[in-house]
Amino acid sequence: MAKDKNRPVFTCRGCGHTQPKWMGRCPSCGEWNTFIEGEAVRKTGAARDAAKIPKEAVLLSSVEASEGIRLGSTLTELDRVLGGGIVRGSTILVGGEPGIGKSTLMLQTAAGLGMRYRTLYLSGEESPGQIRRRADRLGLDSKNLHIFAETELSLVDGCLRRLDPELLIVDSIQTLHSPDLGAVPGTINQIKFCCHEIAEWARQRGASVFFIGHVTKEGAIAGPKIIEHMVDTVLYFDQSGGDIRFLRAAKNRFGSVDEIGLFSMGEKGLAQVADPSALFLVEREGSLPPGVVPAPVYEGSRVLLVEIQALTVPAKGGLSRVYSDRIDPGRVSRIAAVLEKHASLRFSDQDVYVNVAGGIRLTEVGIELPLAMALYSARTGLCFPGNTTVSGEVSLAGEIRPVPHFRRRLRAAAEMGFTAFIGPEKPGDEEDAAEGWIRAASVTQSIQKVFAPQKNSGERAEVNS
Ligand code: TYD
Ligand code: MG
Repeated sequence: MAKDKNRPVFTCRGCGHTQPKWMGRCPSCGEWNTFIEGEAVRKTGAARDAAKIPKEAVLLSSVEASEGIRLGSTLTELDRVLGGGIVRGSTILVGGEPGIGKSTLMLQTAAGLGMRYRTLYLSGEESPGQIRRRADRLGLDSKNLHIFAETELSLVDGCLRRLDPELLIVDSIQTLHSPDLGAVPGTINQIKFCCHEIAEWARQRGASVFFIGHVTKEGAIAGPKIIEHMVDTVLYFDQSGGDIRFLRAAKNRFGSVDEIGLFSMGEKGLAQVADPSALFLVEREGSLPPGVVPAPVYEGSRVLLVEIQALTVPAKGGLSRVYSDRIDPGRVSRIAAVLEKHASLRFSDQDVYVNVAGGIRLTEVGIELPLAMALYSARTGLCFPGNTTVSGEVSLAGEIRPVPHFRRRLRAAAEMGFTAFIGPEKPGDEEDAAEGWIRAASVTQSIQKVFAPQKNSGERAEVNS
C-alpha cells in the first residue's frame, strides 16, 4: 500500500517507534505518554548506537568499538581545533565574550555544512531577516540553511522533531527557556535544563549540536561554564589584544586540546589564517632592541615564530613586581631567579614587564630559554642578534633541557631567514646535527654564546641601573 503523505504520524520520544495514531503507551518500548505528533525520527549515528546500548553490565572486551564519523566543515581552522571535524552526534559549546564573532563563526559553519547536511540555525538573538542580511553580506550561500527564531523550548522541540536536522546551532543557550522553570531565560536552571533537553535529543537522533554561550562579566545571566560538563567539547573564542582571534579547546572528548584555530575579522566575516608561522613576528630594520628575542614555539601541530619582549625598570617603592599576562608571571619570576643565581643579575629591585607581540598566550616549556635571554638582554642592555632564534626548557639549576619537535622548530626558523639557532645539547628524540644549531648546556653557556661577542666589543645600549 502506498504511504499517504498527509496522514499523521506519531513518534515515540523514547524509542523512535512510529505509528498512524496516538497511544498512551508505546507498544514497542512500553513507556507511557511518549508519543508526539510528527515525522519519524530517523535512527542514525548515536541513536543507532544508543539502541544497541545494553541494559546490563557487560564485559568491555565484548563491546564493539565504534569510530565516530566526522563531518568536515568548510573552516579547516575549526576542524583542526575539534580534532579533525565535527563528530556526528556530539555536542559542542562555543563560548566567548559578546562581539567576539561567535554568531559569525557559526553562521559561516552552518552555511557551509548546510549544503551537505540538513542544518538548523536556531536564533534567540536575531530575527531571520537580520540573519539573512548578515549571510548576504558575508557572501554565504544559505539556500539550504534552515532558520528558526524562537526561545521557548517546547516550540524548539516541535521544530526539531518535524525538521529532524542533522546539525543544530543554538544561538545562544542563554536565550532559551522552558516556561516550566519560570519566565526568565538565562538563569542557571534554565540553561542547564535547556542544554540537557537538547543534548538528549541530539544523542537520540545522532545529530551534532553547537551551543553558543556568552561569557558574561558577573551579570544577570549565567555563563557557559555551568554546562561545560554536559557537552562533549568546549571551545572558547577570544582575542587577547591584537587583531587575531583564537579558537581553543578547553575540553575535547574526541581530540587534543592543544590545537588553536586562528581567524581575523574583516569585511567578509572571519577569514582563516592559513600560514601563521610569521604572523607574530615583528618586521624590523637592523638589529633588535634590548629585551627582544624571537623564538619558535610549538602550538598544537604548528610552529609559530613569536617575539618575546622584556623590560626592567627600578621598582617603585623598592618592591619588585612582575607584570606579564601572556606568559604566566610565576614562570617569569622563576626564570628571573635562575638568572639571579647563575648569571649574577639582580632583579630583586626591578619591576619586570613581559609581553608577547601579537597577543598570543604562551604556555609551552620551550619559551623558557628565550624568556631568559629576553630578561638578560633587558637587564643588561645587550641586544640579542637579529639572525638568531632560541628554544629550550630551563631547569632551576640553570640547565637547558630538550624541547619537543626540535627539528621542526629549527626548520620553521630557517624558513623565516634565521641562520643561527641556540638550543639544548641534546635535541630530544631527533639525534643528528643540523645546520646553524648552536648547542648550549646551560643558561650561562647560552648567554656567553649570544652576548659575549658584544660584551667584549663594548657595545651596549643604555641601561637603567
Ligand atoms: P558577532 O558574530 O555578532 O559576535 P557574537 O555573536 O560573538 O556576539 O560579531 C562580532 C563583531 O564582528 C561585531 O561587532 C561586528 C563584527 N563583524 C565584522 O567586523 N565583519 C563582519 O563581516 C561581521 C559579520 C561582523
Ligand atoms: Mg551573537
